[in-house]
Amino acid sequence: MAISKEDILNWINTYAQVIAENEALLTDLDAQIGDADHGANMNRGFKAVLTKLPAQEDKDISTILKTVGMTLLSTVGGAGGPLYSTIFLEMSKALANKEEIDLADWASALEAAEKGVQNRGKAVPGDKTMIDALEPAVAALKEALAQNISLEEALQKSAEAAHEGMLATIPLVARKGRASYLGERSAGHQDPGATSTFFLIDTAAKTWAKRNTHK
Ligand SMILES: Nc1ncnc2c1ncn2[C@@H]1O[C@H](COP(=O)(O)OP(=O)(O)OP(=O)(O)O)[C@@H](O)[C@H]1O
Ligand SMILES: [Mg+2]
Repeated sequence: MAISKEDILNWINTYAQVIAENEALLTDLDAQIGDADHGANMNRGFKAVLTKLPAQEDKDISTILKTVGMTLLSTVGGAGGPLYSTIFLEMSKALANKEEIDLADWASALEAAEKGVQNRGKAVPGDKTMIDALEPAVAALKEALAQNISLEEALQKSAEAAHEGMLATIPLVARKGRASYLGERSAGHQDPGATSTFFLIDTAAKTWAKRNTHK
């Protein structure tokens, strides 16, 4: 069953709540290896997104995602802001003219997001960034597509892969962003951006598993 624009709005709305609930956690993680602002940055951005969502209710999926991306760009700042903005702007482009999306569309959109973040930030897997959560999630979705499993199961697998990727950042030495200034001392701490990215993918899996498919 397809994912509708209501499901997309629901995902973004729920993610804004997840970010608000985890602001302190993200800040604590960033305090270990960065400048302790990732939670505040993300919460400021998604609070602004929440104010824009009511006016998006009759817009298409691509327009909704573009609005999210543009809002993040103008409100989040730092390194994380443009990177999160890129995720949503690339998804918007990948899903142009879609009234609803299926697993293949979602896999393409998340892959476009990953490529966009890599083009902008030049991080590769293993650099201890949000790419370490995004990349395994995309790989899991592609594998699921090849196996022909259900959308719910595929989303669940992508969330599990993102979770593993997030945890796998703990021993890594950061090679991009502010954490890289610490060199070897960045090892032993979970990357804040990989953590917020896991929440993004996990929230999609959880929200869309509960969606109304009988419309
Ligand atoms: N080049 C990059 N590519 C991908 N992700 C990155 C890159 N640089 C940083 N990140 C991600 O951004 C997260 C930090 O985001 P945050 O919102 O704290 O911005 P910031 O690094 O404090 O920005 P600034 O240093 O400009 O203030 C990191 O945990 C990492 O996952
Ligand atoms: Mg920071």
